[in-house]
Amino acid sequence: MKDTSQPRVREGTMIKVMSSPCGVRTQHVSGWVSIIWLTLAISVPVTADVPLHTTAEVAARCGENVTLTCGTALLQDITYFAWVAKNKTYSEGQSDAEVQCKRTGMNSNPMLSLTLINVMPGDKGKYLCKLRSTQGTNSSATLVTVQDCLESYNSSINKSQAKCSFSGVYPRGIIHWSQGDVNLTGLGSTQEEEDQEGRYSVSSTIYVQGGNHNQSYKCQLWIPSHGKYLFSHELHLTDRLIDSVMSSGGMVRLQWIFLMVEILMVKFMI
Ligand SMILES: *[C@@H]1O[C@H](CO)[C@@H](O)[C@H](O)[C@H]1NC(C)=O
Ligand SMILES: *[C@@H]1O[C@H](CO)[C@@H](O)[C@H](O)[C@H]1NC(C)=O
Ligand SMILES: *[C@@H]1O[C@H](CO)[C@@H](O)[C@H](O)[C@H]1NC(C)=O
Ligand SMILES: *[C@@H]1O[C@H](CO)[C@@H](O)[C@H](O)[C@H]1NC(C)=O
Ligand SMILES: *[C@@H]1O[C@H](CO)[C@@H](O)[C@H](O)[C@H]1NC(C)=O
Ligand SMILES: *[C@@H]1O[C@H](CO)[C@@H](O)[C@H](O)[C@H]1NC(C)=O
Ligand SMILES: *[C@@H]1O[C@H](CO)[C@@H](O)[C@H](O)[C@H]1NC(C)=O
Repeated sequence: MKDTSQPRVREGTMIKVMSSPCGVRTQHVSGWVSIIWLTLAISVPVTADVPLHTTAEVAARCGENVTLTCGTALLQDITYFAWVAKNKTYSEGQSDAEVQCKRTGMNSNPMLSLTLINVMPGDKGKYLCKLRSTQGTNSSATLVTVQDCLESYNSSINKSQAKCSFSGVYPRGIIHWSQGDVNLTGLGSTQEEEDQEGRYSVSSTIYVQGGNHNQSYKCQLWIPSHGKYLFSHELHLTDRLIDSVMSSGGMVRLQWIFLMVEILMVKFMI
C-alpha cells in the first residue's frame, strides 16, 4: 500500500510547482535585482570593505622573538600600511634593535609582519595595524601579553636555613614553602626587586633549625595573577657531603656532577 501511494504524492507536488506562475515571476524579479546591484557596483564608487586581519591576542615569554602579522587581500592602491604602538610607527623595512618590520605573504595576500625582538614586560600592550587605500581605510589590533618569564633560579640549604631565589620573573611571583603536606609558607621571609626590564627578582628564606631534615623542603614559585606555579624545586639535606655541595647552589652542584662523570671516564679509560 505504502509503495504505491508515495510516488503519487511526489508527482502531485511537482505539477504544482511547474504550473505556478508565481514561481516564474519571482525568478524574473530576482534577475532584475541582481542586474541593478551589478550596475550600482560598477558605476557608483562605493567605499568597499578593506579587509584586514590580525591575531586578537599574542602571549609571549621574556626573551622570545614574537611576530605579529597583519594581512589583507587588497592588491592595489595601498597608500599606507603600518603598525603603530607605543607612540611609534613601523612600516615596511623599518627596523631597529628591538623591532623588525617586513612585508611578507603571497602576492595575493600582502602581509605586514612586525617582529618584537627579545620581548620584555615593557613590550606588552596594544599594537594597531593601519591600512589606507583609495578604497578606504581599516585598522585591526593585536594585544601582546607577557607571561611565564623565569630567567634563572638558585637555592641553598644548610642545617639552619633554606633559601630559594628566582630572577627574571614576570608577572610578579611569590615563593611558597612546604615539607611533605606541611605548609611552611608563613615562616618564609621574602625579598623582591624589580629589574630595568620590569621583571622581578624574588627570594625567600626559611629557618629550618630544629626541623625534620629527613624530608626535603620544597620551594615553589607561585604567580598569583595567573593562579599557577611556574617552578618547583626540592632542597634535600641528607648527609654531610650533599649538604656542603648544596650550600653552594644548584649551579655548582651541576659542575660537581660533571666532574664526577669525568673522573669515572678517566678511570674507565685507564
Ligand atoms: C576591516 O576588516 C575586517 C576583516 O577583514 C572586515 O570584516 C571589516 O568589514 C573591515 N572594515 C572596513 C571598514 O573595511
Ligand atoms: C631573536 O632575533 C634576533 C635578531 O634577529 C636574534 O639574534 C636572536 O637569536 C633571536 N632570538 C631567539 C630566541 O630566536
Ligand atoms: C605619546 O606622545 C604624546 C605626544 O607626543 C605624549 O603626550 C604621550 O604621553 C605619549 N604616550 C606614550 C605612551 O609615550
Ligand atoms: C646564587 O646564589 C649565590 C649565593 O646566594 C649568588 O652568589 C649567585 O650569584 C646566585 N646565582 C644566580 C644565578 O642567581
Ligand atoms: C647557612 O647558610 C647561611 C647563608 O647561606 C649562613 O649565613 C649560615 O651561617 C649557615 N649556617 C650553618 C649552620 O652553616
Ligand atoms: C600555603 O600557605 C599560603 C599562605 O600562607 C597559601 O597562599 C598557599 O596556597 C598554601 N599552599 C598550599 C600548597 O596549600
Ligand atoms: C630521621 O631518620 C633517622 C634514620 O633514618 C631516624 O633515626 C630519625 O628518627 C628520623 N628523624 C625524624 C625527625 O623523623
